[in-house]
Amino acid sequence: NIVSRLVVVSNRVALMEEGKQAAGGLAVAILAALKKTGGIWFGWSGNVVDGESQAEPTRTDAGKLTYATLDLGRRDHEEYYNGFANQTLWPLFHYRLGLISVNRRTREGYERVNAYFADKLEPLLRTDDMIWVHDYHLIPFGDELRRRGCSQRMGFFLHTPFPPPELLTALPNHRDLIRELCAYDLVGFHTATDLRGFCDYIRTETDGTVEQRGAYGSAMIRAFGRTLMAKVFPISIDTEALESLARTAGRSRQAERLRESLVGRRLIIGVDRLDYSKGLPQRFAAFEQLLESYPEHCNRVSFLQVAPPSREDVPEYIAIRRELSEMAGRINGRFAEFDWQPIRYLNRSFGQRVLAGFYRLANVGLVTPLRDGMNLVAKEYVACQDGDNPGVLVLSQFAGAAHEMGEALIVNPFDIEGVGDALQRALTMPLGERKERHAALMRTLRRQDIGWWRESYVDALTRAPYDFPVT
Ligand code: UDP
Ligand code: G6P
Repeated sequence: NIVSRLVVVSNRVALMEEGKQAAGGLAVAILAALKKTGGIWFGWSGNVVDGESQAEPTRTDAGKLTYATLDLGRRDHEEYYNGFANQTLWPLFHYRLGLISVNRRTREGYERVNAYFADKLEPLLRTDDMIWVHDYHLIPFGDELRRRGCSQRMGFFLHTPFPPPELLTALPNHRDLIRELCAYDLVGFHTATDLRGFCDYIRTETDGTVEQRGAYGSAMIRAFGRTLMAKVFPISIDTEALESLARTAGRSRQAERLRESLVGRRLIIGVDRLDYSKGLPQRFAAFEQLLESYPEHCNRVSFLQVAPPSREDVPEYIAIRRELSEMAGRINGRFAEFDWQPIRYLNRSFGQRVLAGFYRLANVGLVTPLRDGMNLVAKEYVACQDGDNPGVLVLSQFAGAAHEMGEALIVNPFDIEGVGDALQRALTMPLGERKERHAALMRTLRRQDIGWWRESYVDALTRAPYDFPVT
């Protein structure tokens, strides 16, 4: 059997259950990547139980895909997920040192849950499996498997940015974390900037070596007694599927309702988990700036912001939610007419089909994170446009997506007036320019879709760590 079974491991698993919406790029992308080829998807069920974490994984078969999921006990959920993953690593990896909290208890919880996950996966493994671990929750997982004698090929993919070493070294015992990362045979990043952060760390903080390969970004790393490959693989979407979904979704009942409610006004759309990395307060302020600087848009443009709550136990997420409600209320109070509300702000999630219809209706896609690994919403918005009359993507230079989507209107999300001007430019852009930009973006999205991402990663993992092309 030359084709290995693919075992995917991630904290968040997109269980295909009715009523369960997977908001978040990792789950959406892995589901799209695994749907056709199948394999095992191992991770957290999303359930928190009283007492200890559940002893054995629950198996669920869905076609070629088998889910094996574990419930987390309350303490593990608190220390590992709310604690070290989301109050230390998430802000740290998004360059937000002011938001990190550091303590030994949550770090221990993180290591403990990684060891526990490894204990539970190890008996399910076959010798020729290929193991592909995802995201910051599970950096030590590969090392834990190796300690249990697993010698399978193991790859890791980071869905967030990787910060420069000047920031990473704010984490106590950062070397242990990076040593654990080096237990994999292949480490994948979204962009050349993230890869550079990792290579710079190896160069400056360890006595390891980095051998840069190729223009597009890969490197052979020798550190902590291991050899591994690090490489850039920008994640993407199922472009073709989304294009065809959008053609019909534009006529769905919800999209019709949205269209009717606009009574001919133009639409700006934002879709984000309610997360401080997404730059939502700055975005609201930029929309306010648009109405202030270009009052001709008053009563002519609506801004729809979909923002499902996320990580609701974490204080910074509670704070940002409060801040945004206040801002939306204030801006609406300032500009609204009795028959027009400038900002439609929704704290709920929608399925991919409904979103596709909304994207298609929107004249502008507004994606302005302060820092983001990739940002799939940017790609989804473009793929859902009607090529004969496409909308315009306004995109933060700090989203990984900006590395591939130079034909969008690229903005600095901290520059509120600049984003306001970009909105004005997007709303008044001639059809010819909109079509040209859209066509160029679509060429990239068709070439580098989610299938391409999965295949390039799996192909590199098959050959890692030694054999990779010198380009
Ligand atoms: N999403 C969704 N429903 C929502 C909001 C978001 O399905 O109500 C999806 C969205 O379509 C995208 C993903 O969640 O596929 C968000 O991914 P992105 O990379 O933009 O950001 P992340 O949440 O991973 O930080
Ligand atoms: C980002 C992270 C993912 C995570 C997702 C949703 O995309 O990179 O690992 O799954 O956000 O966040 P959640 O905490 O709900 O899993």
